[in-house]
Amino acid sequence: MSVEEALATARAQVEDYRERIASLDDDSRDLMFRQARNHNAWQDRDVTDAQLQDAFNLARMGPTSANTQPMRIAFIRSTEAKERLNPHVNGPNQEKTMAAPVTAIVAYDNTFFTDFPRFNPIRPEMADRFSGNAEMAESFSRIQAILQGGYFILALRAVGLDAGAMGGFNNKAVDEEFFAGTAVKSIFLCNIGYGDVAGIKGPRLYRYEFDEVCDVL
Ligand SMILES: Cc1cc2nc3c(=O)[nH]c(=O)nc-3n(C[C@H](O)[C@H](O)[C@H](O)COP(=O)(O)O)c2cc1C
Repeated sequence: MSVEEALATARAQVEDYRERIASLDDDSRDLMFRQARNHNAWQDRDVTDAQLQDAFNLARMGPTSANTQPMRIAFIRSTEAKERLNPHVNGPNQEKTMAAPVTAIVAYDNTFFTDFPRFNPIRPEMADRFSGNAEMAESFSRIQAILQGGYFILALRAVGLDAGAMGGFNNKAVDEEFFAGTAVKSIFLCNIGYGDVAGIKGPRLYRYEFDEVCDVL
């Protein structure tokens, strides 16, 4: 396909979906945001690899700066792997993590820039900004991967799963256990499965109103 044909196809794809859908309906907004909760207990229902792939395939489409994709995920499913993770999880998060069908370690790779020619062939020279500046590579990759991690939580909801995100764990110990000898470092954990409402401990906590935190200038 020529460059012109590829561009025409990309534009047609945007026009096509816009004809099919203008915005999420009320049910979809509930599923993704309004009624979805962070979960702390899990039904005895399996999650398949195909479901995890389904969620990842949505999350990877979320935009990042320069199309960089520094997020890495280790899916912890086996009892053996859960037992390696458990000692490094804060006490209150341990039981729910062991009970969840899968726990994702959402992480980032600060050497992401070596792949620039593949994910941004239009401006591969952008890699030079990061290769000579470890501090910039570190903070940039962490921020972009956090964005991707947020997309991943919402993608899990979009495919009908529930998520239970957790920052309460020992990052350094988890990195040594699962990512030793690599440039990958953990950001947050995310239990994945079908939430049991018994784990909902109260009504939704307060969320700021638009006027409290937004300005229209
Ligand atoms: C990045 C992140 C880290 C979190 N860490 C923890 C945690 O360590 N333990 C915990 O019980 N909940 C944790 N939570 C859950 C939040 O407390 C929860 O999402 C928030 O209270 C909103 O809950 P709701 O979505 O059910 O309204 C975390 C959530 C996120 C997104």
